[in-house]
Amino acid sequence: MANGYEAWLQYSRITDSTLLADYTPFLKQIVLAEETLLIHSAKQELQKGISSMFGITLELSTVIEGDSSIILATESKDEFVQDYIGDVKEQLHEEGYLLKTINDKKSILIYGKTDKGVLYGAFHLLRLIQTQQSLNNIDVIENPKNQLRMINEWDNMDGSVERGYAGKSIFFEDNHFVRDWDRIRDYARMLSSAGLNAIAFNNVNVHEVESKLITPEFLPDVVKVADIFRAYGIKTFLSINYASPIQLGGLNTADPLDEDVREWWKEKAKEIYSYIPDFGGVLVKADSEHRPGPFTYNRTHADGANMLAEAVKPFGGIVLWRCFVYNCMQDWRDRSTDRARAAYDHFKPLDGQFHENVVLQIKNGPMDFQVREGVSPLFGSMPKTNQVLEFQVAQEYTGQQRHVCYLIPQWKEILDFDTYANGEGTPVKSIVDGSHFSYTHCGITAVSNIGNDENWTGHTLAQANLYGYGRLTWNPDLSSDEITDEWVKLTFGIDPEVVNEVTDMLLHSWGIYENYTSPLGVGWMINPEHHYGPNVDGYEYSVWGTYHFSDCKGMGVDRTIATGTGYTGQYFKENTEMYESLETCPDELLLFFHHVPYTHVLKSGKTVIQHIYDTHFEGADQAEGLKQQWLALEGKIDEGRFKGILERLEHQAEHSKEWRDIINTYYYRKSGIPDDHNRKIY
Ligand code: GCU
Repeated sequence: MANGYEAWLQYSRITDSTLLADYTPFLKQIVLAEETLLIHSAKQELQKGISSMFGITLELSTVIEGDSSIILATESKDEFVQDYIGDVKEQLHEEGYLLKTINDKKSILIYGKTDKGVLYGAFHLLRLIQTQQSLNNIDVIENPKNQLRMINEWDNMDGSVERGYAGKSIFFEDNHFVRDWDRIRDYARMLSSAGLNAIAFNNVNVHEVESKLITPEFLPDVVKVADIFRAYGIKTFLSINYASPIQLGGLNTADPLDEDVREWWKEKAKEIYSYIPDFGGVLVKADSEHRPGPFTYNRTHADGANMLAEAVKPFGGIVLWRCFVYNCMQDWRDRSTDRARAAYDHFKPLDGQFHENVVLQIKNGPMDFQVREGVSPLFGSMPKTNQVLEFQVAQEYTGQQRHVCYLIPQWKEILDFDTYANGEGTPVKSIVDGSHFSYTHCGITAVSNIGNDENWTGHTLAQANLYGYGRLTWNPDLSSDEITDEWVKLTFGIDPEVVNEVTDMLLHSWGIYENYTSPLGVGWMINPEHHYGPNVDGYEYSVWGTYHFSDCKGMGVDRTIATGTGYTGQYFKENTEMYESLETCPDELLLFFHHVPYTHVLKSGKTVIQHIYDTHFEGADQAEGLKQQWLALEGKIDEGRFKGILERLEHQAEHSKEWRDIINTYYYRKSGIPDDHNRKIY
């Protein structure tokens, strides 16, 4: 029974005789000009995929002779393939590749600038076959748009996963490394096939045992993990504890300007690199949610980050320094402090002070991965400081992989958001890919959604978020439709009914989830701590800075310059003006930027209160609809995955009613305004 373990690398058997006649002439042998570590992986992937789809064992050869070959080559063996590559060399970046049919020879060339390109090209070829596209006349050049395409696991060494919704860690258990290296290898294959090239595999909250990952006690195991990822073109990073000099080194300070502390980190870096010469660097959550950092010593984030940057610099390492810094001990009575402002207020003044191997890691929004929030105003506002964008593939606030919530459309909106940093036409994607400012390091990273559940992500449909995330980091210009179509075909095959229905479900799911959860960008109406399920006032009187200020007259957070916290002023002028005015602020973010009466009329023509009622009734109906859509596919999807997904959709349909009734009842009771359509509100 299929269980989802193979994810988008299903490689299902192809039996259609027309397709077989099309493909098999290409599939006799693999020709290798050389065999590096990554070309070896490419070869293995091709052999595995082709054998599984066609039952053909590809022969191996080192000379181009005869027809029917998949030829793997890099620049270092140009003479081998000179006749076929033209001037492609100038067009390829470090990780790019040419994938080309040599028609007269019924052969396919995969030519990379380096062996990384060859591996990506091999996955591309397998993807074409899996989605049943013709191999005649292929001629594509691909270069990744982003340099850093990273994934962050929030795994703890006790085996738990912070914000994990798919079982336990695949890396750790009982304060040790797991011994199932095969599972880690399969994860590396998945990440690489989606285009990712970097991983930090321990939680950004680095607790006691995890602090020791950078010591000889655990480094030999880190080496093993790094070895596995390296073979798939993925660089290993670790999250580190800022207070390590105290915790591990026995010093009495972690002051970044203290000579002993600086020396300690330099020695530590030397030690780490003696184990892993191509170690990517460190990921740091400092002075954030009670984690230690430079503030303790009255130093700045630049002081802290630069100290680490100096230590890893001789080895080519980088420091990913997170900007998720805010006061998490706020007094809810204090209306002047706005958590949304915090990252910009902390970091913007430091522009130009960070070393060139420091990269600021910035969450997509100023709050915390809500179903909808504004885009972080930090993007583009620090032209002299490297930036990476951080997404959350894990569905912490978007249904925890029990509800389907496909996030590619959300991420597309964020990537396409025009910051106006360099005038009109400066979208977030072109900031983090380095097109606008001369960044030395940049790209995209995200919190992973996998665990040791057999299907990796709990909800099988949540696999689409991980796949799509990878594809978007490779090329943010791919459309949601393209990515979705690809994923569905790779995962469930090409039956048009299945493709249409699943695509439709995925593409609507974010909107559906938004409909029955928190309205108009306000966020946070969830149960504290575990963050699942509705609780309108769950965070209203808390220390976390996450409020909606609902009273009997209205709701929303006034973040305007005129009468509110002034957050709108952190954007470039065009966006400041758009958000500042009630006239131009988009409906979907209205309550993120403004406090309005329930009777305020939206651009849709509805009042806020009627919008709340309508979307919540509609959302719960739509969740029921998702279940029905899936049920109609019974018999067309293998039983294991069909049932697993159905169970979750059933839960979602029920749970969405709970959301609907709690939110609607809360606002009916607060406002006293009845529903225009007289539906049941409690
Ligand atoms: C959220 C999340 C935490 C996490 C934090 C972070 O607040 O709930 O679990 O540690 O983000 O990104 O550091």
